[in-house]
This record gives sequence, C-alpha cells and structure tokens, in this order.
Amino acid sequence: MSLQLWHHCTLATLQADATEPYGLVCDGAMVVQGATLKWVGPLAELPEALRAQCSVQHDALGALITPGLIDCHTHLVYGGDRAAEFEQRLQGVGYEEIARRGGGIASTVRATREASAEQLTASSAQRLRHLMGEGVTTVEIKSGYGLALAHERKCLQVARALGADHAVDVRTTFLGAHALPPEFAGQGDAYIEEVLRMLAQLAGEGLVDAVDAFCERIAFSTAQTERVFQAAQALGLALKLHAEQLSDSGGAQLAARYGALSCDHLEWLSDAGAAAMADAGSVAVLLPGAFYFLRETKLPPMDLLRQHGVPMAISTDCNPGSSPCTSLLLMLNMACTLFRLTPEEALAGVTRHAARALGLRDRGMLAPGLRADFVLWDLQHPAQLAYALGANPLIHTVFKGEVR
Ligand code: NIG
Ligand code: FE
Repeated sequence: MSLQLWHHCTLATLQADATEPYGLVCDGAMVVQGATLKWVGPLAELPEALRAQCSVQHDALGALITPGLIDCHTHLVYGGDRAAEFEQRLQGVGYEEIARRGGGIASTVRATREASAEQLTASSAQRLRHLMGEGVTTVEIKSGYGLALAHERKCLQVARALGADHAVDVRTTFLGAHALPPEFAGQGDAYIEEVLRMLAQLAGEGLVDAVDAFCERIAFSTAQTERVFQAAQALGLALKLHAEQLSDSGGAQLAARYGALSCDHLEWLSDAGAAAMADAGSVAVLLPGAFYFLRETKLPPMDLLRQHGVPMAISTDCNPGSSPCTSLLLMLNMACTLFRLTPEEALAGVTRHAARALGLRDRGMLAPGLRADFVLWDLQHPAQLAYALGANPLIHTVFKGEVR
C-alpha cells in the first residue's frame, strides 16, 4: 500500500503522555498508510528509508494539524424546531415548566413522528454538514425523539444512513428512555418495559452502538434507569447517562456502578458522584451549549472533576430544545469562557477524551496506529481554536487517510 507524507506543519498530537502542552510538535511530519497513521513526529527525525517509500507528499504550507474533532453527544436527528418555545422561555417560562405543560421534548416527538425518513435525512444532513465543515470526523447521534419502535428505528436508520452517505463516522446511541411518550402518560414503569422491548429489537437489527437514558425528575428515576442499564449490559452494549443536569439524582453513582463510558451534563454533580466516576473511569461530558441556552447559573464542578482526575469531554449536545447548536468550535470557546476550562483541556475534550466517551481507542490523538482522521487549520497555535468566535479556520479535513 502506498505511503503518503504530510510535512511542513505544526502538529497538536494531543497524546496523553506528551511533555509539551497539546503534544505540540513544531516542524512536524506524518506518514499515512491507507486509513492509518504510520509515523508521527518531527520531520528531522523521520527515518530516511520511510521517507523514501512515500509516493505522495503533501506540503501543509505551515498549517496547524489536530486530530479530527469528535462530537460525542448529539441528538442531531429530529423533526421541527422549538423557536416558539425559545420565545416563551425568554418571557420567563422555565424549561421544566414547558416540559410539564406537554411541550419541550414531547413537542419534538410529535414533529419527529410526523416526519418521513427522507425529511429527517434532509434536515439532519444540513446539521451534520455544518459540524463536518468545522472538522468533525466522528459524531455520536442519539435516538429519543421517536419513543415508539417504528419511530426510534426510523431515527436510528437515518443516523446510520447519514454515516453511510458522508465521509464521517456516525456512532448511534439508543435513548428510548428520554421522555414519557403521550400514550404512556402516568405509566413510567410500563414505558420502561416498552423501552426494554425496543432495545432488544433495535440492537438485534444492528442499529445500536450504545445506550443512554435521561435520569432526572422530569424524566426517569434511578430505579427505572437501572432497569435500562441491566438490559443494555445483558446485550453487551456500552452505557452513557444524562445525569445531574437539573438536579442531583445520584445518576452518576448509578452509571459508575455499571461502568458507563460517560455521564453527561453534570451541573449538579456531587463529590460522591465525581469520586464514583473517577473509580469507574467514566468520562464527564460537559455541554456548555445547553448551559448557555437554558441560561443556567449552576456550573458543573470542574475543580472537583480535576481533583478526582475525571477526564472531561466537550460536545454540542445538538438538539432542538436545550442546545440548537452545530458548532463544536463555538463549544470550545464556551467551555473556556463559561466553564473555565483551559484551551488545552477544551481541545482534549473534543479529541482524546471525546473518543474515550464513545469507547473508541483508535482515534482522538495523532499517534502511530491510530486512524488517519485529522484537520489542517490556518492557525499557528492550537489555543487559537478556542479563542475565536464564529471564525472557521479550517483548510482541509482528512478522513481515513483521504482529503474530504
Ligand atoms: O441533552 N436532557 C435531555 N435531553 C436533551 C434536551 C432535549 C430537548 O429539550 O429536546 C439535552 O439537553
Ligand atoms: Fe443531550
């Protein structure tokens, strides 16, 4: 297989054991073999014999190169929008209040059920292309706006099809336990039984990579969440949880007991929750877009997470209700300004730690043996990625070794 050389670039490798911040390599080079990185380091150290084997040479013209960005928490596939609800909220009606009145997630469920697979594909593809336009090479997409077998299947199939039709890797997560659908009003436990049936069926159809639930007073209890986790674990599926977003329900401890890949949101995370996550190796997925858009004031406990050594990922949470956002670069900035992450922590949050939040060991850094997913930026230093608002310094994205 022919080898390709990329040279004349600064590399932000994000390698975990790097001594330089960002794993920075000035005057770097990478050798790509097929879809895989074969060699990464300073050009001056590239073995001459390897260089001689490179039949294609790409001059990066001084670009900064980072790993491909990973958006590890999205609800990208949905029908309609919630601009009217946004207006209501600006007049003082709360997010939870709107949900209790039958709006919120339930209104997106209605619009998603009404939409055909073709309509969902068209609207979701626009959002996906926006993410890709900022260097996203892996994106997680949750179901959870269908809440009935046929509609959950439709959304997961749309997500899979988006991945097949675009040069991006899509990971699907089943979020049947997102909200109570109208036909199960007042029957949470009965709906959880239905969630378990849907999960078994959809996992059998190969549509599910991981399982998530919304553990919250306006959604599902820890006991109900645990039933979903048990079923998912029996099917050998990885777990994630929307935990402690609006209150401290102890969801993080539960998720940690089940070895969840990640707990997401976490504004109300307790010390005990953070300790449990650290023991379990769960990633904290922080979602500054939802914090901003819901005008929350309670910050996730970043210092606690740092003290316990819990890895922090950053994601858009792209969804119509709490974070109608398709810019992962904007989230980098907001992670710094709102959550006080350093630009280096933020960049690790959309690369190395985001990969871990999805259980993917083959990406998220520039290192030999990992996937050749990377982005060339018209920048000198990686801090500039988190610094600018509304800029898009992307030059090229390379996905599985090929310029996209
Ligand atoms: O991640 N927290 C639950 N789910 C979504 C919001 C869903 C919605 O409002 O449509 C979230 O914030
Ligand atoms: Fe979410």
